[in-house]
Amino acid sequence: MNSKDQNVLLCTFGKEVNEGLTAFPKYLSSKFFYDELGDKLFQQIMDLPEYYLTNAEFNIFQLHKTDILKSFDTDREGFDLVELGAGDGKKTKVLLRELLEKEYSVTYHPIDISKNAIDGLVSNLEQELPSLSVQGQVGEYFEVLDRLQHISDRKKVIMVLGSNIGNLLHPRAIQFLKKLNAVMHPDDLIFMGFDQKKHPQKVLDAYNDKSGVTAAFNKNVLARINKELGGNFDLDAFTHWEVYDPESGTAKSYLVSTKKQTVDIDCLSIQVHFEAWESIHTEISQKYDDDTVKWLAEESGFEISEWFTDENKYYKNYVFKKSE
Ligand code: AVI
Repeated sequence: MNSKDQNVLLCTFGKEVNEGLTAFPKYLSSKFFYDELGDKLFQQIMDLPEYYLTNAEFNIFQLHKTDILKSFDTDREGFDLVELGAGDGKKTKVLLRELLEKEYSVTYHPIDISKNAIDGLVSNLEQELPSLSVQGQVGEYFEVLDRLQHISDRKKVIMVLGSNIGNLLHPRAIQFLKKLNAVMHPDDLIFMGFDQKKHPQKVLDAYNDKSGVTAAFNKNVLARINKELGGNFDLDAFTHWEVYDPESGTAKSYLVSTKKQTVDIDCLSIQVHFEAWESIHTEISQKYDDDTVKWLAEESGFEISEWFTDENKYYKNYVFKKSE
């Protein structure tokens, strides 16, 4: 193997692709869906009629914005509103407008790993909400949070929206929440979105839209392997498959090989063999109920102080405070 190949193998993407495609059963992480095309496809998913999550959370913000801000329990000194993975800020703007209208003293800190995403959001907010104090932060969530705790001792409300937590299995969700807990001061709060258990068909439809955008999103991980790791996946020889277990509340996405085939991944110097109908597990999208959220919170050193739901009760945003 030459030194370029070794570098590829050492980078996270190459290393994890190698691990996942040589394992049995095969798997790939959903974090690899997101490159420029993946980001665009996810934007399209959020506009799909089947993908109810975005509208449900938007509806919660519209219905309960006043009570949501009250639940943050802030004082005259004001607070820092920190958002992990802010995206286009569409939902957050409902809260930001309300904060300005009610003259809260607040600084909004959207955090994202992508400089492009932050620059876009900050310049958009400068146009739309010029009187809002915004300090965009580029970097890894925990590194930035840690930095923020050192530069300001104002109360922090940390928002994680979009049911992003649902892409983590429970043990990893607890690990994530514990890491948040470790960088929080006693009065800081978390405001987090959790998609709720509902009619199984509704969940299945959300991850199996008629227009095929979710299928393209799922297959984007194969497209990335082709582009970035010299793979030769035939995307048409895989089908997107979604299952939902109403008992565990776990929706799982797969890519299923429709024939016996062998795929070369040059940069990893591997050949991957697929039997007909063999699967690659690519994503989990966990659905929750109150007991499960309470359990997750308690396992991570939090308690639920309030929650808000939408008209259809599809989705909930919970406020977590550190347990005493
Ligand atoms: C980002 N995440 C919360 C989405 C979800 O619902 O699991 C990603 C997604 N996957 C397919 N559709 C949307």
